[in-house]
Amino acid sequence: MAMPTLGILGSGSGSNMQAILDAIASGNLDARIGIVLSDNPGAHILERARQNRIRAEVIDCSGQRTRFPDEAQEETARKLREAGVDLVCLAGFMRLVKRPLLDAFPARILNIHPSLLPAFPGLEAWRQAVEAGVSESGVTVHLVDAGMDTGPILGQESVAVFPDDTPETLHARIRIAEHRLYPETVRQYAAHLKL
Ligand code: GAR
Repeated sequence: MAMPTLGILGSGSGSNMQAILDAIASGNLDARIGIVLSDNPGAHILERARQNRIRAEVIDCSGQRTRFPDEAQEETARKLREAGVDLVCLAGFMRLVKRPLLDAFPARILNIHPSLLPAFPGLEAWRQAVEAGVSESGVTVHLVDAGMDTGPILGQESVAVFPDDTPETLHARIRIAEHRLYPETVRQYAAHLKL
């Protein structure tokens, strides 16, 4: 099997991308990251990518605050193809991916979400869990479809919620699970697809 090329889309710190890079470096994931794209020019994920000599570029969303315009999705698909990407990993990417990009990579776009889906889709799932008073939350890796955090689930790990948790302490514990689950699920899915 050839080694799959990953494309990463992120809007924030890029700790999940780092976990994927660490898994590659330690031999736990046989893959390479071909390109990192961000809708946020100030995102630390771009910095991290460049430090690792990975091509890192900004997606121009034409000043739209939350939408992912069709032209921007087409441009994203073009850049991903150009970089030879086999699998796309959303890693803290905060815009909804729709048709143009989904059609370009059918069943090839994964997302990591900080809850046990279908519970707490959407923003700040760790805060939603604390506010709902649940005793268990977790992490989900799923395929992306046109809904919000609704695609087929590929992997989950549960995380306990303690009575004295704040959104921040819970998110810190969830991140630890994310950094285990994402590289491992990418590995399994790539093997399943025989990439
Ligand atoms: C992660 O906790 C990820 O699950 C979450 O954003 C954080 C990004 O962190 N994603 C979502 O909430 C998507 N709806 P990172 O930039 O350090 O990987």
